[in-house]
Amino acid sequence: MKKRTPIVIGNWKMNPNSLAHAKQIFIDIKTGLGRKKRTTIIAIAPPFPFMEAIYKLNVREQVELWSQTIAVHEAGAHTGNVSLAMAASVGAAGVIIGHSERRAAGESDEDIAAQITLALKQSFPVTVCIGERERDCEGAFYSFLETQIETIVAAVPKRKLHLLTIAYEPIWAIGSGAAATPADVQEMKLFIQKYIADRCGRSALTKVAIVYGGSVTNKNADALIREGEVDGFLVGGASLRASEFISIIDTVEAYVQETIS
Ligand code: PGA
Repeated sequence: MKKRTPIVIGNWKMNPNSLAHAKQIFIDIKTGLGRKKRTTIIAIAPPFPFMEAIYKLNVREQVELWSQTIAVHEAGAHTGNVSLAMAASVGAAGVIIGHSERRAAGESDEDIAAQITLALKQSFPVTVCIGERERDCEGAFYSFLETQIETIVAAVPKRKLHLLTIAYEPIWAIGSGAAATPADVQEMKLFIQKYIADRCGRSALTKVAIVYGGSVTNKNADALIREGEVDGFLVGGASLRASEFISIIDTVEAYVQETIS
């Protein structure tokens, strides 16, 4: 089976507080990465006001800039919103959609479908987040996740499946310091893949990448990637610490190189 492209995305959320600090973190990441060629796609999603300045620092472009979200509209009277075209014009090369913090702020499945449609219309890669708030013994969270996956799959035309990454991010693991176990990550990856295969055919599995997010650190990344068998990570807190973020990227890259050869 053809390998999906591995990816590590750093989601800076509403951090850091100043442009000067954001530039410093980015420079530290770029310097730490050096010129080494990697198979893994590396992306950072900074807050919108920092995007252009960081884009200008991104010489040799070994890091992609991603947008943390986009508006559900293409343009117009939507105070406070940022459109895909705006984000693209200051360097965004991909979009995170449906992060649980966006969902908690009111984004519905319909909004998420609209954002996916807008981004894919411009052939933008999207990483769409799913994840349960808590795990019940009866397993009701499985059907909750199925509804989230269905919304995504229904919004992605078959010929655009290669632009889709699904991030499994259980809400209880985000920012809590308690990541899912590697065994749980592997199980959820297989669960998502089964749904996709049933719905879109087995060949879709070579196209749709699946990553994990939720308290990924340089300590747990190795076990999560090896035993979880995911295609990479969506990293929050640790992506603001340059050396830790690079160590997570290198862990993914080492695994990718081992499994390629
Ligand atoms: P965390 O965040 O790594 O800080 O847990 C992950 C995310 O919300 O994408």
